[in-house]
Amino acid sequence: MTSLRIEGLTKRYGNTNALDEFSLKVDSGQFMVLLGPSGCGKTTAVRCIAGLVNPTSGQIYIGDQLVNNLPPKDRDVAMVFQNYALYPHMVVYNNIAFPLKMRKVPKEKIDDKVRNVANLLDIESLLDRKPKELSGGQMQRVALGRALVREPKIFLMDEPLSNLDAKLRTYMRAEIKKLQKKVGITTLYITHDQIEAMSMADQVAIMKSGLIQQIGTPGEVYQKPANTFVADFVGSPSMNFIKCKITEENSGITLESNNIILKIPQSNWDIEHSSENVTLGIRPRDVILLESDDNDFIGIKIKGKILFTELLGDDSLVEVNIGTDTIRVTNIDSNFDPNIGKEVVIGLPYPRIHFFATETGNRLLRKKD
Ligand SMILES: Nc1ncnc2c1ncn2[C@@H]1O[C@H](COP(=O)(O)OP(=O)(O)OP(=O)(O)O)[C@@H](O)[C@H]1O
Ligand SMILES: [Mg+2]
Repeated sequence: MTSLRIEGLTKRYGNTNALDEFSLKVDSGQFMVLLGPSGCGKTTAVRCIAGLVNPTSGQIYIGDQLVNNLPPKDRDVAMVFQNYALYPHMVVYNNIAFPLKMRKVPKEKIDDKVRNVANLLDIESLLDRKPKELSGGQMQRVALGRALVREPKIFLMDEPLSNLDAKLRTYMRAEIKKLQKKVGITTLYITHDQIEAMSMADQVAIMKSGLIQQIGTPGEVYQKPANTFVADFVGSPSMNFIKCKITEENSGITLESNNIILKIPQSNWDIEHSSENVTLGIRPRDVILLESDDNDFIGIKIKGKILFTELLGDDSLVEVNIGTDTIRVTNIDSNFDPNIGKEVVIGLPYPRIHFFATETGNRLLRKKD
């Protein structure tokens, strides 16, 4: 098993930095997901690793070997793309066998390996079919088979599921994850879909405009997002933000925002901040809808009015207007009657509130963090 290490990788196209001092380490056998919006440099990163694009600067190591100057075929890296790239005139067997034939592997050995991989992916019954006789999910399995059969050191997958319908995508997500754990190949998986990333990753690296924003387990990036970009990108529906000005007095903290005043007693304020402009963040599922001013509730309470409600399958989404801001709320008690126009009190439990510096977007630390 092999690790993958990328140090200070920059790729410039004219004035755009597709990658900007990009550093990432994928441990041996790890499933790392690279997550970010369209155009942030994900494909450029994998193409540099595979040797299809020359970086402007930076180093790529596979295991202990610097591979910057190795041609793609010598890097021992397999790539799976969104569009499968199967050879249309070849049957599945030959599609999978192709990389081995190119390497002049003896025929019997090829046969062994192809049948092994077909068995692993449960596509033995498809070996005599041409790609046009396969469904999208089956084509994706064949593409995986063709990558696996080479027993590469590193697996690179660039949005391999985006051509599949929602149900199949969810199914294949779990299949790929199980397969990766079974074969143990170090994997870098790319997606712009945060749900896919969160459900598959051992570690997730979130990027924006060629820059890594945060690397951590799905739980870490969800619970302690490093900045407002990550907080907004991870989690659905996305986090609510309220921009505030802060004033501190002996009795506590006052946050003022668009005609609403939020008070936090000194005993519940443990945030380190250097500017008066802070952004409060709270996930929709962490907001509590209170029927009235519930005195037992520990957190910030804000009066508001229900603006909009929407059924999200098992859950509902309620939008509550406070001042000039709108707060999205999910995870609503089934007994709650969400009538539009109804006056409610929303509760933000102190431990669930995130604070960010408004100017930089960076997370503000709690004193006990
Ligand atoms: N060959 C190229 N010449 C010029 N600019 C390029 C080239 N390839 C990529 N770019 C630019 O580099 C940036 C990153 O592109 P890249 O394809 O890596 O993004 P991505 O994260 O994979 O996006 P998507 O999710 O849409 O696939 C974009 O601004 C893109 O326009
Ligand atoms: Mg891409």
